[in-house]
Amino acid sequence: MTACEFQPGLEGIPAAQSKVSFVDGQAGKLEYRGVPIEALAENSSFLETAYLLIWGKFPRADDLEILQAEITHHRRIKYRIRDMMKCFPESGHPMDALQASAAALGLFYSRRALDDPSYIRGAVVRLLAKIPTMVAAFEHIRNGNDPVSPRDDLSYAANFLYMLHEQEPDPLFAHILDICLILHAEHTMNASTFSARVTASTLTDPYAIIASAVGTLAGPLHGGANEEVIMMLDEIGTVENVHPYLEEKLATKSKIMGFGHRVYKVKDPRAKILQKLAEQLFAHSGSDPAYEIALELEKAVAEKLGERGIYPNVDFYSGLVYQKLGIPTDLFTPIFAIARVAGWLAHWREQLETNRIYRPSQVYIGDHKLPYIPPDQR
Ligand code: CMC
Repeated sequence: MTACEFQPGLEGIPAAQSKVSFVDGQAGKLEYRGVPIEALAENSSFLETAYLLIWGKFPRADDLEILQAEITHHRRIKYRIRDMMKCFPESGHPMDALQASAAALGLFYSRRALDDPSYIRGAVVRLLAKIPTMVAAFEHIRNGNDPVSPRDDLSYAANFLYMLHEQEPDPLFAHILDICLILHAEHTMNASTFSARVTASTLTDPYAIIASAVGTLAGPLHGGANEEVIMMLDEIGTVENVHPYLEEKLATKSKIMGFGHRVYKVKDPRAKILQKLAEQLFAHSGSDPAYEIALELEKAVAEKLGERGIYPNVDFYSGLVYQKLGIPTDLFTPIFAIARVAGWLAHWREQLETNRIYRPSQVYIGDHKLPYIPPDQR
């Protein structure tokens, strides 16, 4: 193998061979296991999509029923995890709470048997089942309330909204959240997936893998951007202020949140679907003035940055959807995590199939042969 040139951010360097998903950034296409995202958003459910991602094929009706039943059965979390969360500061970010709680699952399910398919399945089920419960539990605990127990008669998305709001959700809200989960479930070799695969390659347990990926997703250049979009739209405040705001950001070389992507050079196909979902919600339960600001900003950014391939990404419209579903802003990224667990687990399984520990090289640019300097001479 020849030494290759250093690429900041490993841009363009393949970090794995994968069959999980595919992106064509010029054409704006995304497929999970070869199936276009539009077809999944239109026809599938999050759990069916998770099955497709993790096991590489669509489940038969009975496979899906069994998975749904197992997940429903494992939704509860141990009281010790709830008690642990009660010790977290209420001012802490829910992504930090989620990272700590996901890692803590490893303490309770510490048997590791990576060559046993029933162990793998058990971990997949537990993580898909318990992550939403942990997100909803922290929301109640930080507000001084007891968590709401999951309801076995509700679907995955409906149950999450129920645990969050303690009331059965409007079926349209549950349906739209389920589509959002499908859209966020997987996205090739992004930072958190890379982090998951690196962690997986050491043959550690899946809870450590998910905790590491959650920590990576939390940053504002990755999953955290959806929160920042809402703050930005608030800060812009009016449609008239869009152009002055953009000019100022461009003059100071600041990033416009929710725009740009390492791979997509056109509008992210997920942003197109999310925009339609936002419009469906506004038609159902009233418009949101922030949407007008978002539309104007999209137009203005296309004029200024379009020729450089900077267009709305998945985070631009998701916040508007979540806000309309009554979800607090700092839970947007944890909801991204709930969905992305499916993709991370698919990559975990794939990594195990042909594992070799990640151990890249570096280009050393420091000094050599320097003398030791005694403390009193520094
Ligand atoms: N606003 C203004 N300029 C931008 C933006 C933006 N949102 N995105 C990229 N650019 C410019 C950037 O300033 C740079 O210009 P120059 O060449 O003059 O220095 C050029 O485009 C390349 O940017 P980069 O940051 O080197 O590109 P990247 O591929 O490393 O980063 C990105 C991709 C998503 C981190 C970046 O576009 C960004 O920071 N966007 C804003 C944050 C955001 O919305 N993140 C969500 C990403 S999608 C979902 C996810 O991954 O979780």
